[in-house]
Amino acid sequence: MINFLVNTLEFILNFFYRDRTYPRFYVLETVARVPYFAYTSVLHLYESMGWWRKSDWLKIHFAESWNELHHLLIVEELGGNKYWIDRFVAHSGAFIYYWILVFVYMISPRSAYHFMQKIEEHAYHTYDTFLKEHEDELKAQPAPVVAVNYYQDGDLYLFDEFQTSHPEQKRRPKIENLYDVYLAVRDDELEHVKTMVACQQIDAQTTFKSPHDIENKTSPESTKLAIEKATGQLVQEALKQEPVKIN
Ligand SMILES: [Fe+2]
Ligand SMILES: [Fe+2]
Repeated sequence: MINFLVNTLEFILNFFYRDRTYPRFYVLETVARVPYFAYTSVLHLYESMGWWRKSDWLKIHFAESWNELHHLLIVEELGGNKYWIDRFVAHSGAFIYYWILVFVYMISPRSAYHFMQKIEEHAYHTYDTFLKEHEDELKAQPAPVVAVNYYQDGDLYLFDEFQTSHPEQKRRPKIENLYDVYLAVRDDELEHVKTMVACQQIDAQTTFKSPHDIENKTSPESTKLAIEKATGQLVQEALKQEPVKIN
């Protein structure tokens, strides 16, 4: 089921959007952030019913969706949502994936987090390849205003909040051109992978905490090892990939 959902989204992006970069990013960022809405919806419901209070998880998943919103605003500023057909594909996909993920999260939160880990890995690969293929072209283009406001000039509390594997204020991207923007976006996706891996650990109920939590000194060794295993492989694969510059 999880593999089917991941493969379907990847097929649509790879097949129909192979040669249309910004519409592809637009569809990816629209659909791939709705699972975070699904998680927060279910957590809100459980909390309202008095069944399960996980307000810190709500805050982290909201921060993840806030980060993904800014990826979407960046690609919108670049014209990714110009055509109604792309908006139609993105909105339909978002609607369908939202309800499926609400259902999956109710049955098995770990499967829902695993789904999102896979999607975030796909996003990391997508942006990493884009950076390698278009480095010079991207360095010559200005950064969208929304990116400068988000990564440099805005309130960075929520930016730190979704990066649960390290202390707050560790990442402060410098944005001077479009290359820097997509470098920051790619690295955000890797941070989402780490957070999703941490959510799937057996002891996550007690150990998964906000970077702003005063009791959150450090993640347990088992979580650190699981993150290292998942992301080490991902980064190694990206490093092995030969850059193909397309200008
Ligand atoms: Fe994203
Ligand atoms: Fe993402």
